[in-house]
Amino acid sequence: IKIFEKQTDLDHYAADLIVETVKQKDRPVLGLATGSTPIGIYKSMVEKYRSGEVSFRSVTTYNLDEYVGLPSGHEQTYAYYMQDNLFQHIDIPAAQTFLPNGMASDLQSECRRYDDMLAKQPVDLQLLGLGHNGHIGFNEPSDVLTSGTHVAPLKESTRLANARFFNHLEEVPKQAITMGVGSILKAKTILLAVRGADKAAIVREALTGPITTECPASLLQTHANVIVLLDQDAGKELI
Ligand code: F6R
Repeated sequence: IKIFEKQTDLDHYAADLIVETVKQKDRPVLGLATGSTPIGIYKSMVEKYRSGEVSFRSVTTYNLDEYVGLPSGHEQTYAYYMQDNLFQHIDIPAAQTFLPNGMASDLQSECRRYDDMLAKQPVDLQLLGLGHNGHIGFNEPSDVLTSGTHVAPLKESTRLANARFFNHLEEVPKQAITMGVGSILKAKTILLAVRGADKAAIVREALTGPITTECPASLLQTHANVIVLLDQDAGKELI
């Protein structure tokens, strides 16, 4: 667990770890997240690419999740977010970037297709953010969790949190396709980044509380190689 005084230090540290993974492997596979937390990290990766420090040509990426039912090109799709914040600014070939297809006519077979691809190309480094309720990806607190990629109903609290990106709450999708906790835990290394005082309590619960499906991020305690990067606000209940 590392706690940073400055946001930009967290961003650079995370980007350095990602770049290190990219340089070490012949065919590196990155697991990526969306949301507000990774934006600075992606900026820093872009800077490192522009300065010639790294090329992403050999990288394959798998995103954690995608909304169901938003048409391709919609500004709130995670595919759009990834283009906007990362892919269009670096030299990664489009054919090596994967997200679940939330417009697939058969969502169940789309989930199986995604898991089959992940089985063939296991993730070396998985970047994660943390939801206020302990969710990772769209694995929401529940008495049961699903291991593989699946269609997940979004909790009302998560829809409300994401409503800031839409014109009306009704426009926020009610379902998403998400990698399951089992798929996430298969990554060789996990990089969990969290910012803000509003996440301090859930950071403490996830990292030091009981391992329970009611806090999906607590399952990260069972993984041998998790790096947690926090700003001072998010880490304040740990100190
Ligand atoms: C995004 C994702 C979500 C977010 C989480 C935190 O792909 O899977 O689990 O990581 O909701 O979001 P932010 O960073 O916006 O606080």
